[in-house]
Amino acid sequence: MARRKKIYEGKAKILYEGPEPGTLVQYFKDDGGAFDDEHREVVEGRGVLNNRLSEFFMTGLNGIGVPTHFIRRINMREQLIRAVEIIPLAVVVRNFAAGSMSDRLGIPEGTALPRPIVEFYFKDEELGDPLVTEEHIIAFGWASQQDLDDMVALALRVNDFLSGVMMGVGIRLVDFRIEVGRVWDGDFQRLIVADEISPDSCRLWDLRSGARYGKDADGSDPHKLSEAHTEVARRLGVLPTNV
Ligand code: C5P
Repeated sequence: MARRKKIYEGKAKILYEGPEPGTLVQYFKDDGGAFDDEHREVVEGRGVLNNRLSEFFMTGLNGIGVPTHFIRRINMREQLIRAVEIIPLAVVVRNFAAGSMSDRLGIPEGTALPRPIVEFYFKDEELGDPLVTEEHIIAFGWASQQDLDDMVALALRVNDFLSGVMMGVGIRLVDFRIEVGRVWDGDFQRLIVADEISPDSCRLWDLRSGARYGKDADGSDPHKLSEAHTEVARRLGVLPTNV
């Protein structure tokens, strides 16, 4: 295969130059993602499952008019995506209290929130992706007020879609994170869902048993995590075949 130019390498993914201007190839690795540096381990097959699951969710979103960067899957580990200018904020939507919200505010895990709550985290690994307010975002120029309004609207639409899909297979979407990118169609600028949507960026609990399938499946045991990914893919009917 011809050598491709690597644009970026993160813990869980690599981005290569795409075949046409304005496109990139996103490669899903098996390691990283759900583990911090001390506990980084390889979970075999996770990249393949995340590639499939992200395809599944983003195709569904594209189909209901929620724009995403996904163009098409290329093979088991790669997908063609639109190049975007990433906004340096992680957008988290929460339906139930858990994780850092429970820690920060003392709300017991699993408490239903009165409405979905959208939060912004500044993407900076050294700082540990701190929670930021709209005031910080505007003052430091990370996004405009219009961007913020668009990001909230986008995140809530993703939440409605994902919650419904997961509910349909007996799983509660407790919370999730998306990244948002800016694209230009001529002079017209808009924001679209970027990065990935997979169990690595969602907190998923079984509706009946409460078993955890997402990022907090059992972070100390990579095999449990792998089983959790497989279970989500199996329920959604998107287990990979050899391509
Ligand atoms: O840890 P916390 O409760 O803030 O996480 C909220 C949501 O954001 C979870 O679904 C988690 O999987 C996701 N998240 C993520 N990547 C991070 C931090 C959080 O996908 N670096």
